[in-house]
Amino acid sequence: LNKKESFFDKYWSYFVKGTGYTLGLAVIGVLAGAILGTLLALMKTSNVWVLKAIANVYIEFVRGTPLLIQVFIVFFGTQLIGLNVAGFVAGAVAMSLNSAAYVAEIIRSGINSIAKGQTEAARSLGLSKKQAMRYVVLPQAVKNILPALGNEFVTVIKEGSVVSVIGVGELTFQTSLVQGVSFKPFLPLMITALIYFTLTFVLSRLLNLAEKKLAKSN
Ligand code: ARG
Repeated sequence: LNKKESFFDKYWSYFVKGTGYTLGLAVIGVLAGAILGTLLALMKTSNVWVLKAIANVYIEFVRGTPLLIQVFIVFFGTQLIGLNVAGFVAGAVAMSLNSAAYVAEIIRSGINSIAKGQTEAARSLGLSKKQAMRYVVLPQAVKNILPALGNEFVTVIKEGSVVSVIGVGELTFQTSLVQGVSFKPFLPLMITALIYFTLTFVLSRLLNLAEKKLAKSN
């Protein structure tokens, strides 16, 4: 048994566990973020000025402050109001709230990317505003939105490393643990970088494939 094998024998379970948490966090973050982000995009494009203002302030604030600070705000903020939520829950909430602001902008710009003439043409054919949105604009906008949403998924996988600061046992947190118990600072980092890269590389290849299929179906 050489030295390297014994390192992996001892610590592989940390990395497996961390990868599981990282993926779980990313899936929750991107799904909840997409739902909340759609809501924000709808608010932002609505005619009700209060809704518009709330969405605008929210999106600007979230995009204008570091994710790290937002994670702390959710973690300590929930404690302050007497909610003792687990680190994972606080982390997942913070990631979702953060991603929602970015998703809202993705959806809004996806809708804006469809030329105004499309809506005008649909309207002149007698479609209502809602019908024009539903049958003409949205089906085309989705093709621009899905790839960007895929990129957001990749971003959330990487940015999830931030929640290690509140003790969530994701990949980056597990890496510090392994560094501590093995007295090896560098090797765990390399393994972790490789795992993150594998996750994002595989995901973006899959997204590229899906994108090509989508482009053909037009
Ligand atoms: N590093 C950036 C920050 O701290 C990342 C924000 C997350 N980005 C995203 N698309 N969800 O603000």
